[in-house]
Amino acid sequence: MSSVYIHVPFCAKRCTYCDFHFSTSFKGYREEMLRSLKQEIIERKEEIKTPLKSLYFGGGTPSILNEKELSVLLETVYDSFGVEPQVEITMEANPENVSEENVKNWKSIGINRLSIGLQSFKNDDLRWMNRGHNSETNIESIDIAKRLGFDNLSVDLIYGLPGLKNEEWLSFLQKVCEMEVHHISAYCLTIEDKTKLKNDIKKGKIVPLPEKKQVEQFEILCSFLKKQNYEHYEVSNFALNGLYSQHNKSYWERKKYIGIGPSAHSFNGKTRRWNVSNNHIYMSRGKGNHSWFSEETLNKDTMWNEVFLTGLRTKWGVMKKDILSLGGFVSKEKDVIKELIDQQHLLENEKSYVLSQQGLLFADAISEKLFRVS
Ligand SMILES: C[S@@+](CC[C@H](N)C(=O)[O-])C[C@H]1O[C@@H](n2cnc3c(N)ncnc32)[C@H](O)[C@@H]1O
Ligand code: SF4
Repeated sequence: MSSVYIHVPFCAKRCTYCDFHFSTSFKGYREEMLRSLKQEIIERKEEIKTPLKSLYFGGGTPSILNEKELSVLLETVYDSFGVEPQVEITMEANPENVSEENVKNWKSIGINRLSIGLQSFKNDDLRWMNRGHNSETNIESIDIAKRLGFDNLSVDLIYGLPGLKNEEWLSFLQKVCEMEVHHISAYCLTIEDKTKLKNDIKKGKIVPLPEKKQVEQFEILCSFLKKQNYEHYEVSNFALNGLYSQHNKSYWERKKYIGIGPSAHSFNGKTRRWNVSNNHIYMSRGKGNHSWFSEETLNKDTMWNEVFLTGLRTKWGVMKKDILSLGGFVSKEKDVIKELIDQQHLLENEKSYVLSQQGLLFADAISEKLFRVS
C-alpha cells in the first residue's frame, strides 16, 4: 500500500500566517511547472511497485489548476502506478474556487475527496489573514460540494487566532457540524518566522492570543466534536463514521509515499527525501549544478524517534511491538514513561501507549522526551 502527494506551488495571494512553499508570480512559468511535475511522476514510477491507496493534491493551491491541467497529472499518475479500486483522491480547495462548474469537473476526472480551507467564519479575521473568501463563500462552498455529490468532505479551520473568543470558536464548530461535513482538521495558529503575521506581532500591530485561551479552544474543540459523534483520531483531525483521511493516516503509519513537486517529501520505508523549496531550481533539475533534493537514511535511533513522533499523535498510539522491534525501552526511558503515566498524559493498554486528551496538547514535546540521539 502506498501513496502519492503532488505539491502545486502556486497561490493567488499570500496569506499573512503561511510559510508553506508557494509562489504568487507564476504566470510566466505555469506550463513549464506542470510539464516538470508530469516529468517527475514518470521518472519516479519505478519507486512504487504496489497499487496506490491514496493520491493527494496539496499546496499551495491546487484548486487554481484548470480541468485539463489536473487531468494530465491524474492520467500520468494512473499510467505510471497501479491504483487500488477504492483509491482516495483528495484535493485541497480554497473556498473561492469551489464553483458548481469546478466541482462538476473535479468529480468527473475522479477526485473523490475535497479538503476545503475555510479557516474561520469571522470576516474581520479572514481579512487580516488575506484570504480570498468570506464567511458566506465558506457556506456556499460546502453546500455546492455536498449538493454535487462529494460524500467525503473535509474542512480546515484555525483556532487560537488573535482576539478569537471562545464563544466565536464554538459557533464556527457548530456551523460545520450543522452542515454535516464528514471530516474536520482544526489547527492551532502557529506564528511562523518570516511571515507578515510574525512581523505585525513584533511591531505590536497584532497581539497574539494567550496560550491559556488556545488551550481552552482546544478543549472546546475536543469536547464539542465528541458530543457530535466525531472521532478524534489525530491531534488535529476528527472524522464522522470512520471517514479518516487515508492519505494522512498512511503518513502517521509510516507507509511508503512519493512526494512530487518543489518542497514535497517522500519516504520509502528507510529513507526520507525532500525536494528543493524553489520553483526554478526544481524545474531545471538535472540541468544546472544545483542539487534539487536531499535525503536522509534512517538509522535505528532516528526510526525510534519517528515511531514516537508519528504514533503519539494518533488515537492508536505507539505499538508495543514496534518498540520491541527497535530493542525496547532502556531504564531512563522507562522512568519517562512512568512519569507521563503518573501525570495522566499517557495511557497504557495491552498493545500500545496512547496520549490522553491533556497529553495531546503537548504531543510533540512529549515525543521529544523519548527521542534518542545517535
Ligand atoms: C498549506 S495550507 C493549503 C490549503 C489551501 N491553500 C488553503 O489555504 O486553504 C493547509 C492548511 O494548513 C493550515 N495552516 C497553514 N498555515 C498555518 C499556520 N501558520 N497555523 C495553523 N494552521 C496553518 C490551514 O488550515 C490550511 O488550510
Ligand atoms: S494558506 Fe493556502 S492559500 Fe494561503 S498562502 Fe498558504 S498555501 Fe496559499
